[in-house]
Amino acid sequence: MNIEGSVALVVGGGGGFGGATARRLAKAGAKIAVLDLDETKGAASAAEIGNGAIYVKTDVTDEDSILEAIARAEELGPLRIAVVAHGGGGGDGRVVHRDGLAHSYEAFRRVVDVFLNATFNVTRLAAAAIAKTEPLESGERGVIINTASIAAFDGSIGQAAYAAAKAGIVGMTLPIARDLGPLGIRVMTIAPGVFLTGAYGAAAPEDLQAHWGPAVPFPGRMGEPDEYAMLAQQICENPYLNGEVVRLDGGIRFTKKGV
Ligand SMILES: NC(=O)c1ccc[n+]([C@@H]2O[C@H](COP(=O)([O-])OP(=O)(O)OC[C@H]3O[C@@H](n4cnc5c(N)ncnc54)[C@H](O)[C@@H]3O)[C@@H](O)[C@H]2O)c1
Repeated sequence: MNIEGSVALVVGGGGGFGGATARRLAKAGAKIAVLDLDETKGAASAAEIGNGAIYVKTDVTDEDSILEAIARAEELGPLRIAVVAHGGGGGDGRVVHRDGLAHSYEAFRRVVDVFLNATFNVTRLAAAAIAKTEPLESGERGVIINTASIAAFDGSIGQAAYAAAKAGIVGMTLPIARDLGPLGIRVMTIAPGVFLTGAYGAAAPEDLQAHWGPAVPFPGRMGEPDEYAMLAQQICENPYLNGEVVRLDGGIRFTKKGV
């Protein structure tokens, strides 16, 4: 699909993956709506992109907030691309803690709500909006890109909630692609390995690289957000990518303790 002239909605557009993807799609000619809960990061990302990019404060766990953001994005032109790459914090831990206490059910539900349920919420609402657009000559209307994690496949100790949420995103990719195929909408999921983004909080980049880099067979370092964005761009452009999950991880496999 030609990115030029399409509107792209980027959830988590103030963050690492979302910001890099928003910048890349803008360079390829898309009009960008940056959706993010964090006003400072979201507004800065839209300002950096310029060229009419807008920031809409959005909480993806809230349906009204998503609907409002989609309406704002539609004002820019035909919405054809939705990239879902929001964070949401931890809440993980062992199923039975060292002190004998069971994992908090509330924490498990919160992680699944932020990562899985919110991703489905954006997917269904963005799909309904994309479905209203005129199809392109090829019959295609648009594409939705969701973000899982390699933890969906090889989650480590303490990652039950996060791995479950991400595995849910993996599992719904094909059925959603099958649902949306007749509407000319493709759905793909990227499952990243370890990337240097804000997801690692205040940890020093050199410490993170020293920890994770050697576990990556090649290129022996953490990923850069633009490497996620490169794949997102290719997914937009290549009409034959559909219903699939792509691991983007330099060959790393988490062990039971991570590395
Ligand atoms: N960085 C990695 O190594 C890595 C690996 C695998 C998967 N992921 C996944 O990639 C996604 C994006 O992570 P990132 O690394 O770019 O992190 P990031 O922290 O750089 O960006 C996440 C962005 O999401 C925003 N956000 C948080 N809660 C939100 C909400 N409720 N509504 C809207 N926006 C919200 C944050 O403000 C932030 O700008 C996450 O789902 C994460 O689990 C990251």
